[in-house]
Amino acid sequence: MPFTIAIDGPAAAGKGTISKAVAAHFGFAHLDTGLLYRAVGAKTLDGTDPIAAALALMADDLETDNLRTPEVAQAASKVAVISEVRAALVDFQRAFARRAGGAVLDGRDIGTVICPDAEAKLFVTASAEVRAERRYLELAGKGMSVSREEVLADVKERDTRDRERAEAPMVAAKDAVVIDTSSLGIDEAVAEAIAAIEARRG
Ligand code: DC
Repeated sequence: MPFTIAIDGPAAAGKGTISKAVAAHFGFAHLDTGLLYRAVGAKTLDGTDPIAAALALMADDLETDNLRTPEVAQAASKVAVISEVRAALVDFQRAFARRAGGAVLDGRDIGTVICPDAEAKLFVTASAEVRAERRYLELAGKGMSVSREEVLADVKERDTRDRERAEAPMVAAKDAVVIDTSSLGIDEAVAEAIAAIEARRG
């Protein structure tokens, strides 16, 4: 039986960690939809047209290691305002969401636009400062030379662009359970997410 779990929220709020843990718990497939926009954004860095890049996107494009850089994140946020780019990625996401056996999709507009009828919806958030600190530690841990100030500015800039765009802006769906991870550890956040989903599974 298809069962879709939509997990939205801003950058570095813990969506990815929670999504993976939830998918493992329920035995569902997981799609990080940010990777689709990152793959398109990465292609535009060498001058490729974003709409052409979105229309030609292949599974292999998601496998590259270099999609997790701040530069690619910014490029992803920029291509994500283009309605033709978003439209090109809709069918793939919806087909993934309805696969037999259940699916977890995380992103910005899953509960509002991609899967408005998802059986369970979460909106995972945290303060910009907490999110920037987590992202800073993650990037520094990978050996990237970034400052805390740069990471905070990057997070805030993306938040504003993702929230204020005309098409599919980042917003909690009316029926989403909001989880603020600012003062939660990973285990607590995952437990809250699983409890909220279990409540919808009935
Ligand atoms: O989740 P992420 O940081 O990997 O996402 C990168 C960018 O992609 C994000 O700033 C906005 C865009 N995005 C989007 O517009 N819609 C989604 N469902 C997922 C990501």
